[in-house]
Amino acid sequence: MSITGRMLRAVIAPHGWECEVSDAMPLLEAASLSGIKLPSSCRNGTCRACMCRLDSGQVSYRIEWPGLTREEKAEGWILPCVAHPEADVVIDVPLAAKLG
Ligand code: FES
Repeated sequence: MSITGRMLRAVIAPHGWECEVSDAMPLLEAASLSGIKLPSSCRNGTCRACMCRLDSGQVSYRIEWPGLTREEKAEGWILPCVAHPEADVVIDVPLAAKLG
């Protein structure tokens, strides 16, 4: 499979794992292609199982209203199953795991 889009870097804190991510796909999917598993369930922005904090960088959503309140968004919470990176990002996901 070829990856399209602008390539950016994601760091998974507190582990310090780095991976290349494309702005064409959500962070959760991009991390998994790099062998990093983030907690998830619905993968469509409603269950909040993947909710984590964006320590730095910028993300955007292609869906109308991901399951976050305005306050949560303002506090830096994101849903990586539907959040596309817009810049290099650092996300805080203590429960992330290496695949394989
Ligand atoms: S996995 Fe359900 S909101 Fe992200």
